[in-house]
Amino acid sequence: MPFRWWSLMLMCLLVALAQSGPPLRALAEKRGLQIGAAVEPSLLLQDPEYAAVLAREFNLVVAENVMKWGALQTSRGQFNFGAADLLMDFARKHRMAVRGHTLVWHQQLPRWMYGGFSAAEMETILREHIQTVVGRYRGRIAYWDVANEVIGDDARPRATPFEVLPDYLEKAFRYARAADPGAKLFYNDYGAEGLGPKSDAIYALLKGLKEKGVPLDGVGFQAHVDLNFSPAAVRMAENLERFARLGLEIHITEMDVRLVGPGSRAERLEKQARVYREVLQVCLRQPRCKVFTLWGVSDAFSWRAASEPLVFDADYQPKPAYFALQQTLQQP
Ligand code: G3I
Repeated sequence: MPFRWWSLMLMCLLVALAQSGPPLRALAEKRGLQIGAAVEPSLLLQDPEYAAVLAREFNLVVAENVMKWGALQTSRGQFNFGAADLLMDFARKHRMAVRGHTLVWHQQLPRWMYGGFSAAEMETILREHIQTVVGRYRGRIAYWDVANEVIGDDARPRATPFEVLPDYLEKAFRYARAADPGAKLFYNDYGAEGLGPKSDAIYALLKGLKEKGVPLDGVGFQAHVDLNFSPAAVRMAENLERFARLGLEIHITEMDVRLVGPGSRAERLEKQARVYREVLQVCLRQPRCKVFTLWGVSDAFSWRAASEPLVFDADYQPKPAYFALQQTLQQP
């Protein structure tokens, strides 16, 4: 084992010893839960502490950006798997599950995808992308976010280059199942954690796909929320239960809680901890909720870094939110 790994493992041990209580992944595993983090693979090489905290605390990784269409197929037929392979290798070394994110999304598409293709051309493009990407990692990815944010904030389907192919969503799921029968296939979205028009529209969409026999295994609720978020107020448990009754597995896929609002820093950190605790409790009480994922490892590299939304601060120090998760996982 080259020197770098010894230094990383030693750091992991030292940080672990300094850490009060067992790591989140150890507690989650006892509850049959996978606890994940979104990862930027380049940081695994640049920042030993990033890698150490990730390996110590989480048993699932999700590619924050490197498995998106724009990162993988920058030109038609030209695939760049280097960063994604690095993430897969890290996950294997540290016995972590992997979530692929994401196959069909209206964002982060390369320019060539806006080429005004016909339905037949788009079908070929969609099939080739999914066969190439999902096929490459066949048997090594636990979950794929096949479709991401198809329903807009107005509760209507978003405009997307894929829409030239009327049944693109159904085809995407079928191509993914054929490319990797062992991966669970998910629909993933934000702003639908509670009952309301958007979650109603997603419920109707997924119910329709299930009734057509589309290979859809689960639904991801991103949980990008702020300090005022209250699972009870939005009736999150009821909302998750109706999706569970469709036979879907339930995942919290991208949680972060913006530390923005009135009150002292200490008060806001406690509010942030409450939100994390309450969402985890909803997940733990829902038998079909199997995955709880944070959208990053440390505030330093969050897409919302300025609002310090994660459970480790920019110096990898655990925040009250971390201890809230730890205590919640330890409760019977
Ligand atoms: O890779 C380029 C780099 O070459 C360039 O120098 C740099 C400056 O322009 O941009 C880099 O690309 C950025 C990419 O993240 C990788 O860092 C894009 O500009 C930036 O827009 C992109 O943001 C990502 C965002 O999705 C894109 O919409 C965030 O990191 C990522 O956290 C966020 O994640 C999404 C989920 O995929 C879906 N759910 C919502 C969530 C938050 O928006």
